[in-house]
Amino acid sequence: MFKINENYLKLPGSYLFSNIAKKVAAHTEANPDKSIIRLGIGDVTQPLAPAIIEALHGAVDEMAHAETFHGYAPDLGYEFLRSAMAKNDYEARGCDIKPEEIFISDGAKGDSGNIQEIFAQDNKIAVCDPVYPVYVDTNVMAGRTGTYDPEKEVWSDVIYMPCTAENDFVPELPKEVPDLIYLCFPNNPTGSAITKDQLQVWVDYANKNGSVIIYDAAYEAYISEENVPHTIFECEGARTCAIELRSFSKNAGFTGVRLGATVIPKDLKCNGVMLHSLWARRHGTKYNGAPYIVQKAGLAVYSEEGKAQLKDQIAYYMRNAKTIYDGLKAAGYTVYGGVNSPYVWMKTPDAMTSWDFFDYLLENAGVVGTPGSGFGPSGEGYFRLTAFGTYENTAKAVERIKSL
Ligand code: MLT
Repeated sequence: MFKINENYLKLPGSYLFSNIAKKVAAHTEANPDKSIIRLGIGDVTQPLAPAIIEALHGAVDEMAHAETFHGYAPDLGYEFLRSAMAKNDYEARGCDIKPEEIFISDGAKGDSGNIQEIFAQDNKIAVCDPVYPVYVDTNVMAGRTGTYDPEKEVWSDVIYMPCTAENDFVPELPKEVPDLIYLCFPNNPTGSAITKDQLQVWVDYANKNGSVIIYDAAYEAYISEENVPHTIFECEGARTCAIELRSFSKNAGFTGVRLGATVIPKDLKCNGVMLHSLWARRHGTKYNGAPYIVQKAGLAVYSEEGKAQLKDQIAYYMRNAKTIYDGLKAAGYTVYGGVNSPYVWMKTPDAMTSWDFFDYLLENAGVVGTPGSGFGPSGEGYFRLTAFGTYENTAKAVERIKSL
C-alpha cells in the first residue's frame, strides 16, 4: 500500500481564509436577505489599470501571429521584465540587484511556500507571531516542524517571535538562533512597518549567525513614511543573507492575473554553494514560467502611465485604510497599522476573543474581517480589516461598526 505524506495530517483544519469563506457562506445561507461587506481576505477590488489592460490586449494580439507568438517563457522569466524590476525596484533605490538575480513567478504565495524546499529538513525556522499562515503551514508539510499544541496553538521546533502593541509589532531578536527567518514588512497581518535601522539589525544578526532571511515585500507599494525600507536590499550586507519575495498582487491588482518574483543574490552562499543555483535548478525543473501576456502586463506596471495610474490606485486603497483607522478610533477602538499598509489591526473590544468578535461583527454588522488568532497565538484579541474593498463598502462597513 502506498503511503501519504503524513505531515499533512498534522495540519489543523483548513487554510484560514477557506475557514472564513465557509463561515460566511453558512451565514449567507441562513440569512439570505442580509448584506455582507467583505473586508476579510486581502483581495483587491479595483479593475486593472488602463496601461495594464492595453499591454494585455497587445500581448494577446501578438500571440495570434506566428511572427510574434511566444511559447515557453525563459526559465528565469523574460529579460524585459527582470530588467525593468532591477532598474525600478532596486537600482532606483541604490540597491545592487542584477536582472539575472530575479526569478519571475506566478506570485509570492507559491514562492513563499516553495522556497523552503531548497533548505535542509533540520533547519529551524523563526516566524513572527502573528504571521501569514503560508510560511508555517508549508514547513509543516515539509516535515520541518514538530507537533502542534492545540491549546497554545503553536508548533514545537518553531521559533515564534511575538509582535504585539508592546514592541510596536516589530519582533525582538530570538534567543535561540534560527536558520531561516521569515519577515514580512509592511506586515501582514498587523499593518506595521519596520524602519531601515531596525531591519539593518536583522541583517547584521543573520550575517553574524549564518541565518537566511526570507523577506516578503508584497506590501512595499503602500509605504508612505520616509524611513521605511522598500526592500531589504537597502540594508548593508543583505546580499549575503537575504532572499526577497515580490508580488504584483497588491501594488498592481494582479491577484487574479498572477505574477511575482523571488530575488536571490549570487552572494548568498552555504559552504560555497549559491542558493541562486538551487532555486534556478528547481525553477527549471518544476516550473514553466508565468505566461508571456502576464509578463507583458507586468512590464506595463513600470511604464510612466502605469506608474501614475497605480499611484492613484494605491491612494484609493489608502483612503480606505484611513477611513477604517479614523472611523474605528473615533468610535473608541484601539487601532494600529493602515499608514504604510492596507491592513488595519484593531484590538477586539471587551476582551472578546478574535473569533467571538468575528461572529459578533458578522451577525450584527454584516462585516467580515479576519480574526487575529488565525495568524498565531499573539494575534488573539486582535482583528484585521483590509482596505482593499470599494470606498463605498468600506465607509458603510465603518458606519455599521460605529453604530453597534
Ligand atoms: C491575506 O488576506 O492575508 C492575503 O490575501 C494573503 C495573500 O496574499 O495570499
